[in-house]
Amino acid sequence: MSTQRKHTTEVSIERRDRGSVNWVSQEYRDVVGATVELLHSCRARIQRRTVKGSAELPEDQVLEFSHKLWKDWRAIWSDAAACLLEITSDPGNLKAAKQFTESQLTPELLDGPLWWQAYTKPRGYPGDYLVMDHIYDGGFRGDTPYGQVVHALGIHIGQFVVKRKELVHQAIAEAVDQCSHPDGMLIANVGCGPAQELVDYAQTALAGARPLTFVLVDQDSDALRHAGQGISEALRARPSGPPIDIQLRHQSVLRLMREVSPSQLMLKADMIYSAGLFDYFGDRTCRVLTRRLYDTLRPGGLLLLGNMKAHTDMAWPLELIADWSLAYRTAETIMAWADDLKGAEISLRTEATGYDYLLSVRKPA
Ligand SMILES: C[S@@+](CC[C@H](N)C(=O)[O-])C[C@H]1O[C@@H](n2cnc3c(N)ncnc32)[C@H](O)[C@@H]1O
Repeated sequence: MSTQRKHTTEVSIERRDRGSVNWVSQEYRDVVGATVELLHSCRARIQRRTVKGSAELPEDQVLEFSHKLWKDWRAIWSDAAACLLEITSDPGNLKAAKQFTESQLTPELLDGPLWWQAYTKPRGYPGDYLVMDHIYDGGFRGDTPYGQVVHALGIHIGQFVVKRKELVHQAIAEAVDQCSHPDGMLIANVGCGPAQELVDYAQTALAGARPLTFVLVDQDSDALRHAGQGISEALRARPSGPPIDIQLRHQSVLRLMREVSPSQLMLKADMIYSAGLFDYFGDRTCRVLTRRLYDTLRPGGLLLLGNMKAHTDMAWPLELIADWSLAYRTAETIMAWADDLKGAEISLRTEATGYDYLLSVRKPA
């Protein structure tokens, strides 16, 4: 990791460290203390194993350390989970617990590029496309063996992102299979990030399928460029498959609330989905956006919306350690976004790790 990166991190921690830690329960302090101890001992064991003068460790040994750390982490995570209700039910408690965690524990993880990218937010917002890329890529990253091991820990924790992507990929494949429009199908991804499910789909789309148009919407022009390149490369590498047109739309979805009509971004769509975006918005915004996107569907079209599930233990690594704030919601709250959509067929699924909901809203044909 570069000196400049480290410097940025130190500055931001120093700033966050000011303030009171008065409301942090002893139980939670103990959890944080035990986690710091676990990471210190992991680092020391790695250092003992590392050949003197070398900053490298063979991949199988990094894997061995990361499996052990993941096992120990899960035990501590359940202790942290027991403290979460008290912490998150009171804004003062949450603020104090975050300050405490970010000053004591977070710095121990920042050698891992995934943690660093998530916590320091160099692109100015949480959960950028590079964070998502780290999780999808799943490979070894980090300038030191310890950095690689804590990076791998972040990837373990972030598996809900991978499982959600698999569910969306499957929904895309089903929608394309069922498509009967002779002129093909339009699929829009709102808050696309790296659009990994579309990259994956482009690789596997069967020859003979109808022509497809992918409309990608994101507020971050680099994310859009990156996603567009990923899909184009996948298309160039495949032996055959349907023609796919990629349209990039640099736009904040919040402008769709009033100023911008969704029809300015896309023609009537057969499928619109958004994963990992509604969690950043308040309920009213989610409701209005659900309606606006639903109105943009053709008859028979499908709207798919992801949102983190309430009452899980995920707020510990995300909110408290990585300062990655999301709205965790119940099934009832999410389903209520579609209350006013007359005739819509509504269902809710959870991805395989159980952390993320996917709401399906089907427009009558
Ligand atoms: C957590 S990432 C999820 C990316 C992708 N959907 C995935 O699941 O991998 C959130 C993405 O939403 C984008 N985003 C955040 N706020 C947005 C907004 N108001 N309008 C459009 N895109 C937004 C970010 O730039 C980022 O690429």
